[in-house]
Amino acid sequence: MNPDKNTTGTAPVTRRDFLRTTSTAAATTAVLGGLAIERFAHAAGDDELKIALIGCGGRGSGAANQALSTKGKVRLVAMADVFPDRLQESLQNLKKQHSAKVDVPPERQFVGFDGYKQAIALADVVLLGTPPGFRPIHFEEAVRQGKHVFMEKPVACDAPGVRKVLAAAEESKKKNLKVVVGLQRHYQPGYIEIMKRVHDGMIGEILAMRCYWNEAGVWVNRREDLEKKYGRPLTEMEYQLRNWYYFVWLSGDHIVEQHVHNIDVCNWAKNAYPVRCQGMGGHEVRRGKDYGEIFDHHAVEFEYADGVRMFSFCRHIRGCWNSVSEHAVGTKYVADLSGAVIRDPRDKNKIVWRYKTDVPVDPYQAEHDQLFDAIRNDKPLNDAENGAKSTMTGIMGRMATYSGQMITWEDAIESEVNLMPDKLAWDATPKVVPDKDGLYPVAVPGKTVTV
Ligand SMILES: NC(=O)c1ccc[n+]([C@@H]2O[C@H](COP(=O)([O-])OP(=O)(O)OC[C@H]3O[C@@H](n4cnc5c(N)ncnc54)[C@H](O)[C@@H]3O)[C@@H](O)[C@H]2O)c1
Repeated sequence: MNPDKNTTGTAPVTRRDFLRTTSTAAATTAVLGGLAIERFAHAAGDDELKIALIGCGGRGSGAANQALSTKGKVRLVAMADVFPDRLQESLQNLKKQHSAKVDVPPERQFVGFDGYKQAIALADVVLLGTPPGFRPIHFEEAVRQGKHVFMEKPVACDAPGVRKVLAAAEESKKKNLKVVVGLQRHYQPGYIEIMKRVHDGMIGEILAMRCYWNEAGVWVNRREDLEKKYGRPLTEMEYQLRNWYYFVWLSGDHIVEQHVHNIDVCNWAKNAYPVRCQGMGGHEVRRGKDYGEIFDHHAVEFEYADGVRMFSFCRHIRGCWNSVSEHAVGTKYVADLSGAVIRDPRDKNKIVWRYKTDVPVDPYQAEHDQLFDAIRNDKPLNDAENGAKSTMTGIMGRMATYSGQMITWEDAIESEVNLMPDKLAWDATPKVVPDKDGLYPVAVPGKTVTV
């Protein structure tokens, strides 16, 4: 579809309008003006809950499907995305899945960098599914407007972003808002059951942990292919957004974007966050102008306050040994956290406990079932602080691998390195741009400064 068409109204906009961003300021004022911003949203059991989706890509659309599949009256009333083609694709798919619950006419479709404010204003529950670089400003706004939130992980890409989320998390608790972060292992019965046993001391004291996200890697959107598809040159801002995985301000690098899941599981097992870390990494195979500025592997040794280590590996390289898993070694037994099995290493790895069920639970659905249940029945549920601190753990790991230095939690979380562009507009320049050969600067351990 033609991205130069504006889906916030019926009239097509010019390319110039598109570049100036397609946010409709007048509409924002109208919608926000009539709203009690700090309303402490709290639904009675059978009230209809209105949902807004911000970031209508793969996961955001999946989250909307799950939210619309919860018990009780729900309606998707607004959608926002920077790109009209992404919004339309998502809308059409959601209509096929939930026609009666999808009520998003053109005037409630918001395109551009500011559209999230209008969409949030129209909803009781907000689903945040953009690349994580935008999560802090979107979460902050949702909390400011007093809305319940489902937000995907990670929740930021730099320390100023994490601090913004932590501040909004505090505010969300004061407002009794319910917040779920898409670290869905917390909603997966196998993990929940093994964690109970780890916390109850079944494996003894934890001595060490290891966690991996070693896989082939993810999609790449090449500039040439995008320009061919859209029939026009892309500004640097549009290119980076359409190929967001490879830019640190948008994804955090894969140690944050994906590996946060595994790092978070170890933090959960330990009931703590590391105090320092050191590590190494680089881009050995995934090089060239299509791959922006991120590494293809990181290996980090995190240390908790009591000296326990967590060894973290993540790799995006084809043709290698793969594993997405977490383990904790205790003084008595070893817990395969991802496999939900506890073994005795001194007795031929005999299984001493294993999670079994005949009724598998989809953790992505469980996140939404529990969120909507908590809203309807005023049950405590707020994942924001843990989401922010586990995200910070990944960012601290990246600071260590990019710089080659030992990084402490204090230095990491107090860092003033702000990766966000000074201005969000299609013709604005991101902080990292390619050189004359189209190559982006990649961190050099020993030289790059990260805090
Ligand atoms: N929990 C999980 O298992 C899981 C799985 C996949 C993705 N995710 C997370 O979900 C998030 C989105 O990933 P995805 O795979 O859906 O990506 P995606 O590219 O498919 O979707 C992102 C969408 O956000 C839109 N967008 C970008 N910037 C925006 C802005 N400023 N305002 C509004 N819309 C904006 C994009 O146009 C796109 O439609 C990421 O944080 C990712 O880590 C989580």
